[in-house]
Amino acid sequence: NKTEAWSARFSEPVAAIVQRYTASVGFDKRLAFADIAGSLAHADMLAAQGIISADDEAAIRRGMAQIKSEIEAGQFEWKVELEDVHLNIEARLTALIGDAGKRLHTGRSRNDQVATDIRLWLRGEIDAITDTLKALQHALVALAEQQADTILPGFTHLQVAQPVSFGHHLLAYVEMFGRDAERMADCRARVNRLPLGAAALAGTSYPIDRERVARALGFEGVSQNSLDAVSDRDFAIEFTAAAALVMMHISRFSEELILWMNQSVGFIDLADRFCTGSSIMPQKKNPDVPELARGKTGRVTGHLMGLLTLMKGQPLTYNKDNQEDKEPLFDTVDTLLDTLRIFVDLVPGIRVKPAAMRAAALRGHATATDLADWLVKQGMAFRDAHELVAHAVRHADSLGVDLSALTLAQLREVVPQATDAVLPLLTLEGSVAARNHLGGTAPVQVRAQVARWKAQLA
Ligand code: ARG
Repeated sequence: NKTEAWSARFSEPVAAIVQRYTASVGFDKRLAFADIAGSLAHADMLAAQGIISADDEAAIRRGMAQIKSEIEAGQFEWKVELEDVHLNIEARLTALIGDAGKRLHTGRSRNDQVATDIRLWLRGEIDAITDTLKALQHALVALAEQQADTILPGFTHLQVAQPVSFGHHLLAYVEMFGRDAERMADCRARVNRLPLGAAALAGTSYPIDRERVARALGFEGVSQNSLDAVSDRDFAIEFTAAAALVMMHISRFSEELILWMNQSVGFIDLADRFCTGSSIMPQKKNPDVPELARGKTGRVTGHLMGLLTLMKGQPLTYNKDNQEDKEPLFDTVDTLLDTLRIFVDLVPGIRVKPAAMRAAALRGHATATDLADWLVKQGMAFRDAHELVAHAVRHADSLGVDLSALTLAQLREVVPQATDAVLPLLTLEGSVAARNHLGGTAPVQVRAQVARWKAQLA
């Protein structure tokens, strides 16, 4: 009965269902390369400090190289009775190199080891997510540049409000994903601190050099309190919160894509490779990818709630509860990266239908504010102008036309002070071009923002 690494203390083997219940190797083997990197840095430090011999360190290095290639080749035999990734790798190391393998765990615990592994692994994933966010921004900026002069109705309350450039609309998402990238960078700085050296919870009696380990692993700092180091999962929660925000942005974009693709709206079409058909209705082409992205947003929000709940009742320091941090974290990364990668490809495949956008913008009197603004510039108080234009809108409605389609004579029946000068301002182009200031929808501003983003993303 010496299957478990800690079993000498016990008089009977762990029950089969308990073994399965407590084991994490089925999912935490994903941390294997981070685990090996952490072990190599630890062994290097132990040798430099004279805690293990140089020969032991060389043997550990050799053994780990072999284990790495076994894992890469899919030949490593993961054993559930060895509980987790850490004990599996350590057992294999000892089988390969003997006593030197048994000395690797000197001055270390799985508690600081697992915290180190997750941080190392997550740091790499954050970098991949940041790169993919930037690729998505690139795709949106490219489309925005093509669509700077395309006009669609901007909505409030999902009702026609004012005409906007479609490029401007797309750049709104570029802003959101830009904040997401900032949040990822900010979160990375707190992920990137080394817990190793905290050992089980109190530190260790060996003369360790934590700064050396931090340097070797590319950590930007060392955790300053051993109790906090092994029990802190703030970094995982922060990351998941940042991921949930990205997904929320993707979900809003998805909702718009789905709406725009609806036949009654018809603003865009999506490339066939992102849609699926129906088993009964031969004509169907459904926007499954945006729908699923919208749906998967719920999973990531759920993981955030799950992790917060996981931590809220835990006394210091490490508790086995923490093993439950991994699956939500892994699924968050997988869901987010898959979704972002698909959208990087989906965006250039958006087929824009400017005529439908234009027709929609010409229903709903989208340029009424422009008429009011013109009256104000002639000296009228804004509230009076607002009321007069409301009458003009009712007049247009009674004639069955959009405000922008009124002739000057028709307009003058309600707004006697109207002149030739006002008509161009009531066109879609006139309205959009007039909003020519930082952050406005005028095509020249859209082009300036495209240029700014191109420089920033380069
Ligand atoms: N598999 C464990 C985890 O995921 C590693 C740490 C276990 N430590 C312990 N004392 N049981 O958190």
